Amino acid sequence: MDVYEAVMSRRAVRGFTEEPVPGEVLERVLCAAARSPSGGNLQPWRIYVVTGAPLAELKKRTAERVAAGDRGDAREYPMYPPEPGSPYRERRAEAAERRYAALGIPREDQRARHRAVAANWDCFGAPAALFCYLDRHMGPAQWADAGMYLQIVMVLLRAEGLHSCTQMAWSVYRRTVAEVVSPPEGLILFCGMSIGYEDATVPYARTDRAPLTETVTFLGG
Ligand SMILES: Cc1cc2nc3c(=O)[nH]c(=O)nc-3n(C[C@H](O)[C@H](O)[C@H](O)COP(=O)(O)O)c2cc1C
Repeated sequence: MDVYEAVMSRRAVRGFTEEPVPGEVLERVLCAAARSPSGGNLQPWRIYVVTGAPLAELKKRTAERVAAGDRGDAREYPMYPPEPGSPYRERRAEAAERRYAALGIPREDQRARHRAVAANWDCFGAPAALFCYLDRHMGPAQWADAGMYLQIVMVLLRAEGLHSCTQMAWSVYRRTVAEVVSPPEGLILFCGMSIGYEDATVPYARTDRAPLTETVTFLGG
């Protein structure tokens, strides 16, 4: 698979089979992803890979919290600006609408929407996940470094025939993640990432992208 194919076939997959992800594949991917660039070569990402019994335990504990109506831990960073403004608000709404439409969930069926959201904390059935932390005192530039790193991971996973879904949703139950992965003091959880083989029976809508003219300006011909 060439790089274009890997990039174009990557999408947020929200349905995985139980087929385990071989440990050596994850190691190969993370070994190569370590070549990701970062300002000053800080390599600010701190990654925990969770599979098997610890992942089952994490899913179980989180499901219990969700079932009890627990709305999560105090947020440590805002997932979105309070007023994202246009066109960001519209883009987000459209992606959500298309997703629920693909799942056959009508707008007014809040319970079904809630169930779809709750699937995040089951890793959409994935048998592997990683969690990306950063040192708490890192700034926006290092968060961008972590984003680049995660993008490399996602593209390399495609090269291995795997799919992924990056999930800020895990920050909602960050204390439960911390109970399982035991990070040292001073780290902040950015996101999780579900990893596995796609369950092709789960319907999805491919997300759109804004035309290039909206996001890119070429100067100089
Ligand atoms: C940092 C980050 C966090 C995300 N968090 C979630 C999440 O919590 N749950 C989810 O279902 N998708 C999540 N996504 C996936 C996005 O919704 C998805 O990437 C976007 O809608 C574009 O669709 P595509 O990835 O299929 O092209 C996240 C993506 C990124 C990059």
